[in-house]
Amino acid sequence: MSPRGALKPGDLVTARVARYDPERDRALRWQTWQVAWKPGLTVLDLLHQIKEQQDGTLAFREACRMGVCGSCGMYINGRPRLACNTQVGELGRRVTVSALPNHDVIKDLVSDLAPTFARHRAVRPYIIRDDHAEMNQPTREYRQTPEELETYIQFSGCITCSLCLAACPIASTNDLAFLGPQALAQAYRYVADSRDAGVAARAQVLSGPHGVVSCHLAGACSEACPKGVDPALAIQFLNRVLLTGRSERTGAPLVEARPPAGPPPADRPVAPPANVKADRGDGSP
Ligand code: SF4
Ligand code: FES
Repeated sequence: MSPRGALKPGDLVTARVARYDPERDRALRWQTWQVAWKPGLTVLDLLHQIKEQQDGTLAFREACRMGVCGSCGMYINGRPRLACNTQVGELGRRVTVSALPNHDVIKDLVSDLAPTFARHRAVRPYIIRDDHAEMNQPTREYRQTPEELETYIQFSGCITCSLCLAACPIASTNDLAFLGPQALAQAYRYVADSRDAGVAARAQVLSGPHGVVSCHLAGACSEACPKGVDPALAIQFLNRVLLTGRSERTGAPLVEARPPAGPPPADRPVAPPANVKADRGDGSP
């Protein structure tokens, strides 16, 4: 049942927040505060009120406060969400907040996004041209038609918030080497771009044991994504390109069909993070 409208201005909301200080804690500990609700109060506003009026040591990360920078991802009432984009009025009188699952905790609600960025880098998320000299010193625009833009524009809205990785059941079963939905969706964003010729250069990472083959199509990533990127759809499109070895646009051969599984390339900069394991108290992994 949606609790929308149930709260009145001045009603007290109970905020239960997972704390973790690496200098003193061996596991997460929970702390509870009460905050007066007012219309428009977001979870990020609520955390600011706690920090400014009740406990200045509470750590969380934010920047834009408008769902654009991707830095305020947290696990809120059982789902990965952006704190600045989540209305307390839609959650009810109890708000439970912890750092993102499938991520290390740096402090309190600050999740370590470095492994997400490393996964992203591993798929080479930029236009790769056949002509490397031209790629490094472009002498002209690389033009494309509206139809060509349409093939990837949906997937280009990623803000690297890592909510999709936090929701991913494969990552939560300790396959933290899995490239994950964010990186794979961004790989497809470039593979599908008419200006890009880099699918073969990316194929070893994408077709390896931690690439698309590890995705079990649960779809939790797409449900969690606040920007409508739909990583699960991108991964299916990417899988088709890698299986057929042909461009979706032109049908031209791109890569050999999926190579046999083997160890990931030695230089792949994805280190399995050792998550802080703790009972989040809400049934989450
Ligand atoms: S695909 Fe969506 S959920 Fe995943 S990092 Fe990008 S914006 Fe966030
Ligand atoms: S503060 Fe930037 S997305 Fe929430």
